Amino acid sequence: KPIVLSGIQPSGNLTLGNYVGAIHQWLPMQQHSDCYFMMVDLHAITVRQDPTLLRQRTYDGLAMYMACGLDPQQSTIFVQSHVPEHAQLAWVLNCYTQMGELSRMTQFKDKSVKHANNINVGLYDYPVLQAADILIYQANQVPVGEDQKQHLELTRDIATRFNNLYGEVFTVPDPFIPQVGAKVMSLQDPNKKMSKSDDNPKAFILLNDTPKQIEKKIKSAVTDSDEQARIYFDPSEKAGVSNLLTLLSVATGTSIAQLVPYYEDKMYGHLKKDVADAVVAMLEPVQNRYQDLRRDEQAMRQVMAKGAEKAREHTVITLAKVYDVLGFVPAS
Ligand code: TYM
Repeated sequence: KPIVLSGIQPSGNLTLGNYVGAIHQWLPMQQHSDCYFMMVDLHAITVRQDPTLLRQRTYDGLAMYMACGLDPQQSTIFVQSHVPEHAQLAWVLNCYTQMGELSRMTQFKDKSVKHANNINVGLYDYPVLQAADILIYQANQVPVGEDQKQHLELTRDIATRFNNLYGEVFTVPDPFIPQVGAKVMSLQDPNKKMSKSDDNPKAFILLNDTPKQIEKKIKSAVTDSDEQARIYFDPSEKAGVSNLLTLLSVATGTSIAQLVPYYEDKMYGHLKKDVADAVVAMLEPVQNRYQDLRRDEQAMRQVMAKGAEKAREHTVITLAKVYDVLGFVPAS
């Protein structure tokens, strides 16, 4: 069985971008792969978090994972900080990663502009912890959105470098980036990624926004000033419209090619209404399940405890192997 691993930061509530780019791809993988899905709280603290909110959002995120259909019976669902080997391996990998490589990471560069008053070492080191997350499970496939491609390439480079020095210690993972929806754009600036940390809440849809909020946000989505208001798919010329078509495609399970002819003689308003209806319909059952799951923190604690225990069965093995090839003396 292939091993699949992925995660989302509890740095805000989960967005439609997280769903379309990530969770939506994870769901079918549960059937035929050995899956590990986590909330990456260690990554979240690379920018300042309010402790109360961070704790809440970690629960929120786990409840949302399950509401979306991640099944703790089939998959290992856990919290990153509950599995100490991630951070332990990250330290080792730090010693096999060059400063120059991390300086080239576009996400680091972007975040250092956004958080210019707190360019901490953790922010810089973020991709190495991510590499450790992946390599510690010997993951084959990592389903992520397009923005994570560069981090995945770095992970592959680190793994290959380590293997060249010490033999076949790590599986070199493949990124799995969806054909449609790999980069959901901001509703307020369709040249920018939809992000939960956007200052303008109209730019993103949260998975637990009410139908009214979803409708409002989609109706006020920025499109373009094409006088003929033509509707077709071209992410560079028609970024806003293409983003709406992408959302409609994922929410209805219909390909973009099939959708476009229908909108040939329709207005942007028509497309927006259909997108809003489809997104609301897609999220409705998720939101209903979410409310029930979120109420029962006790049950969630059991899921994460069991998840961490299952995860550690694997992480301790990889870490022991790594320590051994490095020449560390065994503790017992
Ligand atoms: P995060 O929380 O920023 O994003 C989580 C996942 O959601 C995807 N995503 C999007 N996809 C499409 N359109 C968007 N607008 C959009 N916004 C977010 C991201 O690509 C990602 O797949 N660094 C990771 C978290 C992580 C991780 C890992 C992932 C830590 N360790 C190990 C995989 C394997 C991240 O970007 O989180």
